Amino acid sequence: MNKIKPCIIGLGYVGLPLILNISKKFKTFGFDVNKKRITNLKKKIDTNKEFLSSAFNNSLQFTCNPKDIKECNFYIICVPTPVLKNKKPDLNNLTSAIKMISKILKINDIIFIESTIYPGLTEEYRNLLEKKTNLKCNKDFFMGYSPERVNPGDKVYTLKNINKIVSIDTDKKSVLSKVLKVYKIVSKKIVFSKEIKSAETAKVIENIQRDLNIALMNEILLICKKLKINFKEVVRLAETKWNFLKFNPGLVGGHCLPVDPYYLSSIAAKNKIKATVTLSGRKVNDGMSNFVLDQLKNFLKLKNKTIKSSKILLIGLSYKSGIADMRNSINFQIYNFLLKNSSNVQAFDPFVENEIKIKYGIIKKVDKKNNYDAIIFLSKSKKFGDQFKKLNTKENGFKIIDPFEYYK
Ligand SMILES: NC(=O)c1ccc[n+]([C@@H]2O[C@H](COP(=O)([O-])OP(=O)(O)OC[C@H]3O[C@@H](n4cnc5c(N)ncnc54)[C@H](O)[C@@H]3O)[C@@H](O)[C@H]2O)c1
Repeated sequence: MNKIKPCIIGLGYVGLPLILNISKKFKTFGFDVNKKRITNLKKKIDTNKEFLSSAFNNSLQFTCNPKDIKECNFYIICVPTPVLKNKKPDLNNLTSAIKMISKILKINDIIFIESTIYPGLTEEYRNLLEKKTNLKCNKDFFMGYSPERVNPGDKVYTLKNINKIVSIDTDKKSVLSKVLKVYKIVSKKIVFSKEIKSAETAKVIENIQRDLNIALMNEILLICKKLKINFKEVVRLAETKWNFLKFNPGLVGGHCLPVDPYYLSSIAAKNKIKATVTLSGRKVNDGMSNFVLDQLKNFLKLKNKTIKSSKILLIGLSYKSGIADMRNSINFQIYNFLLKNSSNVQAFDPFVENEIKIKYGIIKKVDKKNNYDAIIFLSKSKKFGDQFKKLNTKENGFKIIDPFEYYK
């Protein structure tokens, strides 16, 4: 068996943890088109703030030059798969990664896609590679799909602890052995499948199910508020039934939940199926910024104030508490609205990248003596340590707005 030479393509939230693990066993290349990212990674700096320099080892090689990775023989693609403005899948990153591989593909090479995609897309890219290289999949090269479940900021469900789906449609022992050798370093538990389309579908439905469940709780929260019903008490009572599933309402952002329903619905639409339920959570979850702003307006109204005339502090800007990722952040949308509509708004989030902090004037420290008219918590306060413990005191005038109980 020839030596396994892995290369991770795309070194963001998904690709970096992967390469840090795989390089413990194999000399591994990391390729990214973002030169700044490569420069930082060469200096062992992760601007996503997920890893310290001590997590980097010496068998890592970072590059933006495709020539450097042409000797590799096990490519894992982790590039972004967002949606376009019209919510159709944006496959530009993935297509360009596949086209790059087509120029360096050799006999017996193995390629895995880890980016989230819709069912059937691995096969489409397999066809593209065959057309561009005149090589045959499952004879000359091998291609699989392994969806990613990494959860940035999560110290319990780390890459190593998460069950990893690995799918490839081959019986060739030498290939399966290489695949297992690589993925066993990544995860303690491999869930193997020969059905690539099933693995592709499993990934998107995991996120769609979560998006829908949160949307349902968000909608129930809106109804309860309107009808002056105690939402918390409603949930306390309902969850005493054995089969009630408890999900919390909240802001849904990031690269996965607000995106994946559109991937599945796009392939459904191509096959003349309208994915009504799949998409039904999107509008509710995207609309929760209005709920937060209404809470703020009502709170200020009681003090005879308006957004325009108030000094407001927003806590938590990234899409999820305790991480740097700003993609599809509703918190950030709310901040931008306030910046436009109030002359005195500040935001605090120590986790976001320095560049963003500077660009958007995010404050470094909360001065508790500062006389804010309202402090809105859009991130879980426990992620900031003890610093906000005594914020909700009489001296501070109970200025906290906590739409999703992130402060409590
Ligand atoms: N972030 C998550 O929590 C998460 C979880 C599960 C699955 N995913 C999926 O994993 C994929 C990657 O997401 P991410 O969060 O790591 O994205 P990311 O933006 O953090 O990182 C992607 C990296 O790929 C690079 N890139 C873009 N095009 C490239 C190309 N053609 N060649 C090489 N590098 C390229 C970018 O410069 C970037 O550094 C997406 O499909 C996403 O849906 C993400």
